[in-house]
Amino acid sequence: MCKRPLEVEDVLTRVIVANGASVVTALQEIQNNYGYLPEEVLRAFSRKTGIPMVDIFNTATFYNAFSLEPRGRHQITVCVGTTCHIRGAGMLIEAVSRLLEIQPGEVTPDREFSLETVNCLGCCAFAPVMVLDGKYYGNLTAGKAREIVGRIREEAAEGAPEADEGESGGSREGVC
Ligand code: FES
Repeated sequence: MCKRPLEVEDVLTRVIVANGASVVTALQEIQNNYGYLPEEVLRAFSRKTGIPMVDIFNTATFYNAFSLEPRGRHQITVCVGTTCHIRGAGMLIEAVSRLLEIQPGEVTPDREFSLETVNCLGCCAFAPVMVLDGKYYGNLTAGKAREIVGRIREEAAEGAPEADEGESGGSREGVC
């Protein structure tokens, strides 16, 4: 279950006490709490620390791990790099998009899933590749992608544990 986000002041106090004014660790803490980096929280952090907003924004946009937009509780990233594209990334995106009724860059209305694309994950030998909640799945077909995402969605609906350590049914999991 999603824990309730802390109030802005509580987050900032915790961030600053624990990390001083380290922008990267502060942004990690803020994103852990909210699931993304809300602009008003970044502005409050800037005011409290004296760090210019432009520096905070530059850091937030430099690292792919940070998001300025709300993300789903479960994050799906499909690689659309050249090798994955040739080996069917488009079919993976179509399958996941149809299943969740969202397009890349969108979040499901219940905020459970977000879908993104990336240009290369560095494991082209296992193309096409998808990452779900940090776990890599390679050599995928549209059917396998649908099955993996569908399984997580069912578990989320049932309130079951989120860990997905089950069988792959032929796809390569944990690649890269
Ligand atoms: S192109 Fe997809 S992992 Fe490299």
